[in-house]
Amino acid sequence: MAFKLLKKKTKKLDDYSLTHGVGLVTYDDPSSVISEQFNTIRTNIQFSSVDKELNSILFTSSAPSEGKSTVSNNVAVSWAKQDKKVVLIDADLRRPTIHKTFNVSNKAGLSNYLLGTASLESVIQSTMVDNLFVITSGPTAPNPSELLGSKKITELFQDLTAQFDFMILDAPPVNSVTDAQVLATKVDGVILVVPQGYADKTGVIHAKKALQTVHSNILGAIMNRTAKDKMKGYYGSQYGGY
Ligand SMILES: Nc1ncnc2c1ncn2[C@@H]1O[C@H](COP(=O)(O)OP(=O)(O)O)[C@@H](O)[C@H]1O
Ligand SMILES: [Mg+2]
Repeated sequence: MAFKLLKKKTKKLDDYSLTHGVGLVTYDDPSSVISEQFNTIRTNIQFSSVDKELNSILFTSSAPSEGKSTVSNNVAVSWAKQDKKVVLIDADLRRPTIHKTFNVSNKAGLSNYLLGTASLESVIQSTMVDNLFVITSGPTAPNPSELLGSKKITELFQDLTAQFDFMILDAPPVNSVTDAQVLATKVDGVILVVPQGYADKTGVIHAKKALQTVHSNILGAIMNRTAKDKMKGYYGSQYGGY
């Protein structure tokens, strides 16, 4: 008796960035096609809000490992290369990667600042990219939701948007905890990252609804891992409005 095992065709996302950081193609290979795509995304974001200046932008997605850090970190580099003073914050306190990506210390970061054990000046770190500064997650705190929902974060955002041209948040995913929803209400615009061919459609719709429920300003979605322009293990990203 012969029978075939039917394998379900699902593409897997990986956790490589948790230990090695994300690929910074905009830094490593700025003249590549993929870097150009990140530059285009940057420009499109800039033009997506006609009547309101965008100083603070949050990147999120429905689930973990969908490319929030890859897209937000590369767009941040792209902005800094435009001579804008940028601060990139690792607000994904449960799965932080920015310290790995930029190879900086994570001894003191967002969690310490929010706990009141570190000053703002001491948690802002410079990077190998001119004009680009980062605030890493800081050591894992037992209560990330409480920290991210605290009054102190509103103060932090006010201080940073006064000091920098752009504040970019690498946020947690929308569908697991309410952190991203809460943060989304405190920024000028929100971008939803959707990995093409990987994302669960219901999950993406749910995430969009959750962001709309809190009346955040959704600027658009970025399709990540679009197969068209595969290059050096990288897949392109494209921006689209809703
Ligand atoms: N466009 C892409 N092409 C190739 N690999 C990607 C792409 N976007 C993300 N990845 C990889 O997928 C994994 C998860 O991406 P990451 O940006 O860390 O997701 P998130 O921040 O949403 O958890 C990482 O290993 C990252 O390098
Ligand atoms: Mg991430």
